[in-house]
Amino acid sequence: MGRLIERWLVRRKKESFMSSNAEPTPLDLVVAITGASGAVYATRLLQVLVNAGRRVHVTVSKSAAQVFQHEIGLTLDLENCDLNKLLTYHEPISDSPPRGSLVYHHYQDFRAGIASGSFLTAGMVVCPCSMGTLASIANGLSTNLIHRAADVHLKERRKLILVPRETPLGSIQLENMKRLADVGAIILPAMPGFYHGPTTIQDLVDFVVGRICDQLGVPHELFKRWGEN
Ligand SMILES: Cc1cc2nc3c(=O)[nH]c(=O)nc-3n(C[C@H](O)[C@H](O)[C@H](O)COP(=O)(O)O)c2cc1C
Repeated sequence: MGRLIERWLVRRKKESFMSSNAEPTPLDLVVAITGASGAVYATRLLQVLVNAGRRVHVTVSKSAAQVFQHEIGLTLDLENCDLNKLLTYHEPISDSPPRGSLVYHHYQDFRAGIASGSFLTAGMVVCPCSMGTLASIANGLSTNLIHRAADVHLKERRKLILVPRETPLGSIQLENMKRLADVGAIILPAMPGFYHGPTTIQDLVDFVVGRICDQLGVPHELFKRWGEN
């Protein structure tokens, strides 16, 4: 009888854990936005991923919300976040409505599915990635959902793409990046190239976002590739 009750309790716990989350699919992606400069990289990335039909789990740090306000005048209420604001910041990519969707998770909500390795995803991007978040991930601190989800992606050997933005870089930051690259994370700095002939800021943003999509295997036409006519 005791064992039956125990099994029932375990099942209940699992059910309530999942019910606060959308059912995961192997195509789900995680995008964490942290407080480095470059809010437009995040807004564009989300728009492109949703346009490509992906379901994206989004979490935003407190500092990221401050940067959003400062850089693009967007106020994000992290307690009740309206993610549509993020999707409409740029010109629409196509006339048809986006096929994908966004699922919001508060950065302190460890009950979110993405806090567990049993929640399947196709990978995670931290964009932009602050030096603080980089350091926390490099040291396995898991003090918020962003660090925890990144930790999960590393331990599950899933794709983790970090988009740091800082200059110049000190040796502690470089060592943290090396440490993460050594365990399989992809360090993709927000460093646009100039060989594709950019003429606008959007072209520069799209170069970085396109390179992130290349890593995720998400098709895009955000920039002209080297060697293409
Ligand atoms: C407007 C603004 C721009 C910032 N830009 C950067 C940056 O480019 N890189 C960085 O590492 N930190 C930057 N910071 C500092 C981070 O936001 C700060 O270290 C914060 O603690 C990071 O927390 P988080 O990683 O939880 O988002 C910036 C802060 C503000 C307010």
